[in-house]
Amino acid sequence: MKEAIMSSTTATPKISTRSVNVFYGENQAIKDVSIDVEMDNVTAFIGPSGCGKSTFLRSLNRMNDTIVGARVEGKIELDGKNIYDPSMDVVQLRARVGMVFQKPNPFPKSIYDNVAYGPRIHGLCANKAELDMIVENSLQKAGLWDEVKDRLTNSGTALSGGQQQRLCIARAIAVDPEVILMDEPCSALDPIATAKIEELIHDLRGKYAIIIVTHNMQQAARVSQRTAFFHLGTLVEFGETSEIFTNPREEKTKDYITGRYG
Ligand SMILES: Nc1ncnc2c1ncn2[C@@H]1O[C@H](COP(=O)(O)OP(=O)(O)OP(=O)(O)O)[C@@H](O)[C@H]1O
Ligand SMILES: [Mg+2]
Repeated sequence: MKEAIMSSTTATPKISTRSVNVFYGENQAIKDVSIDVEMDNVTAFIGPSGCGKSTFLRSLNRMNDTIVGARVEGKIELDGKNIYDPSMDVVQLRARVGMVFQKPNPFPKSIYDNVAYGPRIHGLCANKAELDMIVENSLQKAGLWDEVKDRLTNSGTALSGGQQQRLCIARAIAVDPEVILMDEPCSALDPIATAKIEELIHDLRGKYAIIIVTHNMQQAARVSQRTAFFHLGTLVEFGETSEIFTNPREEKTKDYITGRYG
């Protein structure tokens, strides 16, 4: 296991976690997980249902704080700063480490206001022209601009599922985050919408540190450069995606990727 930890850590990580444990009341959902996440790679989290992928993901921007009874132990650093330090501004942290959920969840507001929401509450723009620019840029980066530019005042909830998910990505991008956490962002989408999101992840790679949770092995293989395999709350193996899928070190990883369980 020493070796697994060594290969799962890097010299200049964007996010560094050491000996992380997460509990829901008496139940321990994450056990002693140490992982480094790099800026220029997409990292995939895979593993059977209930193994703790979402729990671990949520601990990276303190979304677990919102769950009664949830407790996080260990060290989680963003750019070398402990995110659980009392001096950490959690609202600011969640702007730096944005999140996209399984089910697209646009606000019941216009397309424009969905994207403008974060920049407005964080005071990121001096005037309407600047805000217009942020909205356009964010929608461009999310690959949605051409589809919505003529109907920015329409409701975000009236878009298709795939468009709604790209709107949520635009909303996350609008506050200029450093990390984007995606928890099964395509599981509610059809194959065409899924392909668009995967293309988008390719385009965003390097601009943001991206972590994606997925149940879809092909997707993990397509979009990520590093893959972490979780099982029963532990990190079984973490390494280059190509290695994990072609030459896993651990028997459990092999069983999972060959579909023997999960
Ligand atoms: N809000 C919660 N309160 C109590 N226990 C929880 C809560 N959320 C998750 N758990 C438990 O923690 C463990 C890990 O759950 P988690 O949702 O992180 O798994 P997951 O790997 O994301 O699963 P899935 O692939 O089904 O989304 C499970 O045993 C689950 O029942
Ligand atoms: Mg989950």
